[in-house]
Amino acid sequence: MTNLEYANQIIQEFKEKIDHPQRFEQKKKLYTGVDLGTAYIVLAVVDEEGNPIAGAMRFAQVVKDGLVVDYIGAVDIVRELKAKIEDDLGVELLTAGVAYPPGTSKGDQKAISYVAEAAGFEVVTTLDEPTAANNVLKATNGAVVDIGGGTTGIAILKDGKVTYVADEPTGGTHFSLVISGARKLPFEEVEKLKLDQTKHSELLPAIKPVIQKVASIIKSHIQDRNVQKVYLVGGTSCFTNIDKIIETELGLAVIKPKNPLLVTPLGIALGAKKVYE
Ligand SMILES: Nc1ncnc2c1ncn2[C@@H]1O[C@H](COP(=O)(O)OP(=O)(O)OP(=O)(O)O)[C@@H](O)[C@H]1O
Ligand SMILES: [Mg+2]
Repeated sequence: MTNLEYANQIIQEFKEKIDHPQRFEQKKKLYTGVDLGTAYIVLAVVDEEGNPIAGAMRFAQVVKDGLVVDYIGAVDIVRELKAKIEDDLGVELLTAGVAYPPGTSKGDQKAISYVAEAAGFEVVTTLDEPTAANNVLKATNGAVVDIGGGTTGIAILKDGKVTYVADEPTGGTHFSLVISGARKLPFEEVEKLKLDQTKHSELLPAIKPVIQKVASIIKSHIQDRNVQKVYLVGGTSCFTNIDKIIETELGLAVIKPKNPLLVTPLGIALGAKKVYE
């Protein structure tokens, strides 16, 4: 199995557990990944063998680029998602990992941990997001590009370690603003519209310049850094054919796993599990 096949398979299993929750009858330990994003809060649960067991997510604007802007709101949502999963599984979730965007200050990283702790988790690891994503991607060299809601994060890997990071303020929110202007639709409606893959081809002309902007941001960070491959993660990478456009702009191989939105949360859960290996 290639690394991409592994990533696609585990993401697919995770997606199925989100869509069709099942009770958990085994005596295995569970590890949760708590991903506090600008657009989504996602919880991912894996067992001690790294199998995806459950997940839940909610659109929320309580964190902005790794900065917790609504602490109480964030705690409430994490608690609610935790309770939902516990109810589905019939088991209590105890152990968690959290992640922060690269470049976040120590204080902001702590705030992210405090949210998970206040929601009832014991936080056993705090990872940077690309390192978490790479628990799923298992890339040794290349760039992990996280096109999220608020920002695009770029992390360059050498021999499996992050050696360079950058975060630039262009992301899915900008895609939404452009579509909102072109279609004369409220932002919230555009956020829903974007989730419908069948609408992507008709939205593409409006957002193509924004995708090209993202590509030029990526290019400015990876050039002269000996990058041969680019891995796309983050919700905005779900856009149909965004990988093809970026590939053309960069002239490099661009790899997009199935459902890039779920890579980082799942990788955080795997990171929490790793603490006990
Ligand atoms: N299927 C989809 N197609 C296109 N865009 C999508 C899809 N699903 C989610 N998005 C967009 O992805 C963005 C959210 O991605 P993600 O959850 O990775 O961001 P985040 O982690 O919350 O934000 P950030 O990383 O900037 O803090 C939103 O702008 C959302 O509209
Ligand atoms: Mg994110």
